[in-house]
Amino acid sequence: MRKLQTDYFDLVFIHWPYGNTYHAYRELEKMYEEGFIKSIGISNYQESQYLDLVHFNKIIPVVNQIKVTLRCQRKQMLEVMNEKGTVLQGYQVFGKEETLPIYEDDKVKSIALKYNKTTRQIAMKYLVQNRISVITRPMEKQYMKDNLNLFDFQLNEEEMSYLSSFDLLEYNTKPSQDYQRTKSMLENM
Ligand SMILES: NC(=O)c1ccc[n+]([C@@H]2O[C@H](COP(=O)([O-])OP(=O)(O)OC[C@H]3O[C@@H](n4cnc5c(N)ncnc54)[C@H](OP(=O)(O)O)[C@@H]3O)[C@@H](O)[C@H]2O)c1
Repeated sequence: MRKLQTDYFDLVFIHWPYGNTYHAYRELEKMYEEGFIKSIGISNYQESQYLDLVHFNKIIPVVNQIKVTLRCQRKQMLEVMNEKGTVLQGYQVFGKEETLPIYEDDKVKSIALKYNKTTRQIAMKYLVQNRISVITRPMEKQYMKDNLNLFDFQLNEEEMSYLSSFDLLEYNTKPSQDYQRTKSMLENM
């Protein structure tokens, strides 16, 4: 803090749910209570890890930053976190090979044409409209503009439902079973 010449941090993240993160989280809680940090975030926590963390600590993290794409939409995680009051923040939202065909899909292209946007803007808009905060870090100036230029249109229900269908549900199967098990275990403690 001294090196950065600041009196406080707006947001401090626990990057991964590994190691002695409970100790780290409680230290962050102390710093929060002392006013040195304004909010606590976590990153790469699955549903069960998130539930366990909030169950055994006082402060609900403001955000969980994790990879979210149209192929991995994390619908269950969104539900769980909305319920507790944590924002789901997606990184690498454009995905890799598994997501690329979506940007060439005829219907997605026609939605993009309709709103005068790129197919990647349509993907981002879908996530934002689903209450997912999106963080990007483009080098290209045009991409920076594109990524900010999402708020002058609204996807309709049918378009949202089409984009929703790209989710590969098997991504969610394992964490989902894990989540149900952890949830019921915590409820019975
Ligand atoms: N918590 C974690 O574990 C974790 C992991 C990964 C990333 N992050 C954080 O997440 C933030 C975003 O990083 P990211 O890698 O996800 O950034 P990103 O902006 O999604 O960049 C990934 C690629 O997408 C391209 N791109 C960006 N906007 C585009 C657009 N509108 N159209 C077409 N291509 C576009 C970029 O191109 P150009 O670069 O050529 O412009 C880059 O090649 C960073 O702050 C990073 O530190 C966190």
